[in-house]
Amino acid sequence: MSLGKRKGFIFQSSEIYGGLGSTWDYGPLGVELKRTVTDHWWTEVVSKREDVVGMDTAILMNPKVWEASGHVDSFQDPLVECGECRRRFRSDHVEGDTCPECGGPLSEPRMFNLMFKTFIGPLEDEGSVVYLRPETAQGIFVNFRNVQEASRQKIPFGIAQIGKAFRNEITVGNFIFRSREFQQMELEWFCHPDEADRWFEYWIQSRFDWYLNLGISRERLRLRPHEPDELAHYAKECQDVEYEFPFGWSELEGIADRGTYDLDQHLEHSGKDIRYLDPISHEKYVPAVIESSGGIDRTVLTILADAYDEDEIGGEQRMLLRFAPHIAPVQAAVFPLVKREGMPETARKIVNDLRKRAWNALYDEGGSIGRRYRRMDEVGTPFCITVDGQTSEDQTVTVRDRDTLVQERVSTGSLIEYLTERLNP
Ligand code: GAP
Repeated sequence: MSLGKRKGFIFQSSEIYGGLGSTWDYGPLGVELKRTVTDHWWTEVVSKREDVVGMDTAILMNPKVWEASGHVDSFQDPLVECGECRRRFRSDHVEGDTCPECGGPLSEPRMFNLMFKTFIGPLEDEGSVVYLRPETAQGIFVNFRNVQEASRQKIPFGIAQIGKAFRNEITVGNFIFRSREFQQMELEWFCHPDEADRWFEYWIQSRFDWYLNLGISRERLRLRPHEPDELAHYAKECQDVEYEFPFGWSELEGIADRGTYDLDQHLEHSGKDIRYLDPISHEKYVPAVIESSGGIDRTVLTILADAYDEDEIGGEQRMLLRFAPHIAPVQAAVFPLVKREGMPETARKIVNDLRKRAWNALYDEGGSIGRRYRRMDEVGTPFCITVDGQTSEDQTVTVRDRDTLVQERVSTGSLIEYLTERLNP
């Protein structure tokens, strides 16, 4: 967390006013990492597939959506309150009936709805209550017919969305792991109910592989099927992709068989026939849904936790982030060895050439080369390029690898090709 703040990955929201319970701001490097995760997901789940289309739905929806979806009645956690210090906890997060903070007596659990409420229009009464969406999925379900007709997709096909979701979590924590405002990446895959089992297995594997493709360690990733008593109110079956964080194995994403639950509910509550008509068999039916629902913030935290490392070089401690090169927020740094003999100009030209390719390249001429390397190791920059005395003689620079520490001489003319090879997975 402290490295994340110092280097501009993640700050506490409204920090100068003491912050606000578990909301976070992404700094210059954090936003790059977040965009990488978002783009990677969109590329793999939407752009590369003919059978998935995207959408971007509103955060505020007609409140009837949340009655139909079951969130008004069922999206709640059991809450207990300490009689002494008045702190509140999720009852499944505490053991026994005494407060983990002060030892005071805990109340009986009562159910607490996790949806944030606000009001639409100038009157703050019951009739104007709307909710901040707790999942992006419902925006997709209520648009199922619109999207299917407009895009002329045939079942099986998917609708994908990335967007903010909000939950008034009782217990938050572990940095950006559980917060009240977060970003989801969700795919709702519509298929014939007879095919749901097959697609469930397919998406479990496909989503697990996506995390591996980000360069996350295989031995810290696992799949875990839900026990029947942990299933969400809409799910028939669910498997979580989990990562072994320093605070234990925790969920990154859920792949769920939601059956026909959501479309059935919306069909009944809206009175609109949103069934699918198969153009070949002429069968009219409510499709089943396989959902993959992951958190962008949790993926960013996973990448940071997985990349964090400490080692020793020449008797000196080094703190570094071992990002896979293709997801590093800074791809390369360029240093002039000294601030004279035309070296800064050559280094700046290299930075400009790299930036023209939309690579995030940084120029740094401050302090010794060793210190500059260290600064780049701390933000996980995979390659550091140094312009030195030899550059003006033979047009070569050194490229230093963050992980192996090996320095190679590369001609400036082939630098782009050299980096392209290494920055692609
Ligand atoms: N549409 C299904 C759904 O929302 P979920 O398991 O409640 O399922 C899906 O949430 C994912 O959203 C989680 O796996 C997690 O990555 C992310 N998520 C949920 N609550 C979160 C929170 N309070 N903070 C950060 N991410 C959260």
